[in-house]
Amino acid sequence: MKIAIFYGSTNGNTADVALKIQKRLNTDIYDVGKLKNGDDLAKYDLLILGTSTWYDGDLQDDWESFMSSLKATDIHGKTVALFGLGDQEGYGSDYVSGMRLIYDVVVEKGANVIGAWADEGYSYESSASVIDGKFVGLALDEDNQSELTDGRIALWCDQLEASLKVSA
Ligand SMILES: Cc1cc2nc3c(=O)[nH]c(=O)nc-3n(C[C@H](O)[C@H](O)[C@H](O)COP(=O)(O)O)c2cc1C
Repeated sequence: MKIAIFYGSTNGNTADVALKIQKRLNTDIYDVGKLKNGDDLAKYDLLILGTSTWYDGDLQDDWESFMSSLKATDIHGKTVALFGLGDQEGYGSDYVSGMRLIYDVVVEKGANVIGAWADEGYSYESSASVIDGKFVGLALDEDNQSELTDGRIALWCDQLEASLKVSA
């Protein structure tokens, strides 16, 4: 299975996490801010898409620009996993809500999303990225819970690998 991470990061937090996931799963990796179109998305079976959330639940800037490329690329039948960074204390009414904007597009385009993540151990008011009590992907918080990040990444990657084995 060909796997790649596509991330957007303003201050480097999402980039750092993307590199950790890359090491753990041995994937290719792309900064969406450097891509001109969605051609690279089409090369992979599993797309791991990571964004931070900005300004009341919006996408990170480079993701905002890359969205038209994602929408223009055929990802029907591909598997997608999402991760999102946010600040649950500073922006608790929209914690990691940006992930949901990507989630809705990939679902609409016929991708199969794996990697939902229980919302236990977080303290936030609301998040557009929670469906049926679970985040639509891995939620991380480098501003308030950075000590939990490595453990969360390890568990989530184990969970992804288990889902991929079941569906193989
Ligand atoms: C001006 C500003 C707006 C933000 N808005 C949100 C938000 O709406 N929701 C959220 O969960 N985090 C929000 N954050 C927190 C960032 O998502 C968080 O710091 C993240 O780790 C940044 O990752 P990056 O450096 O990869 O972009 C905001 C941060 C700033 C500085």
